[in-house]
Amino acid sequence: MLNTYSHGSVVSVDEQKWRDAQEFERAVWISGNQNNSFLRVVMKFVRALKKSPYYFFQLIKYRDFYAGDDWNFWWKDIFDNYKLLPNHFSKALEVGCGPYTNMRIISKLKKIDEIHCVDPLMDLYLSFKLNWLAVMARKGKVHTYTGKGEKLEFQDNTFDLVVCNNVLDHVEDANACLTEIHRVLQPGGYFVFGQDLSDERDLDKQREKAKGFFIGHPIKLHDQVLDRSLSGLYEEKMKKVLPREAGRNSRYHYGTYLFIGVKS
Ligand SMILES: C[S@@+](CC[C@H](N)C(=O)[O-])C[C@H]1O[C@@H](n2cnc3c(N)ncnc32)[C@H](O)[C@@H]1O
Repeated sequence: MLNTYSHGSVVSVDEQKWRDAQEFERAVWISGNQNNSFLRVVMKFVRALKKSPYYFFQLIKYRDFYAGDDWNFWWKDIFDNYKLLPNHFSKALEVGCGPYTNMRIISKLKKIDEIHCVDPLMDLYLSFKLNWLAVMARKGKVHTYTGKGEKLEFQDNTFDLVVCNNVLDHVEDANACLTEIHRVLQPGGYFVFGQDLSDERDLDKQREKAKGFFIGHPIKLHDQVLDRSLSGLYEEKMKKVLPREAGRNSRYHYGTYLFIGVKS
């Protein structure tokens, strides 16, 4: 059963659909990380140099000597180096952090006393060699949790920063995640939220041309749906919808939602 909203949006799915998506997700990360080695890290730099000198120098500048990156530098750039955020946070949380995380970059730009990361596939990610998350967890520098955004195991008003980039199209219930994120943020705390957007035409294309992608991304969000979900909860510091051609995957997404808000 799907709950459908305007523009073909799918805001929540049943648990089985979410589990099917997570099977897809798990397979992607295993194939990308099961043979991690120093050679792989070196290859990341070689590939970056071939792609663009800018990206190569970003890896050097951020001392990113770890395996993998899931567009985390891209999010940094479109969030303008997270310049709108204060320079210091006490307790930060990344929801749906993935194996590579955005905290890996943000924590180089901002001083963060305590970093917490939650993901349903955390146990898998911690088993990967040479990933920032696994290395930091082993050193006791990041607190990690296996869990879902729909039910965060933290008390109200715990964090002064929550980050959630490229996650909500993977979850079971997008609005439940947004409600939980708002609950665990302190008043005055910052929410950084980046999300690919889909409309009816994108859904048709995904369904016809990219079956795996369609199953792996069960939630389909339109910017108007997100506007409604976030309305009245935050003082907006940044709210942009990037056009299709400025996004990460213009074939299947008409836009990208960028939001930085302060909990009212
Ligand atoms: C495409 S990855 C992005 C990872 C990370 N945010 C990044 O930008 O590198 C999506 C992540 O969302 C996680 N995820 C799926 N369902 C979730 C849920 N219900 N709550 C929180 N995270 C979820 C997946 O396990 C996966 O790690």
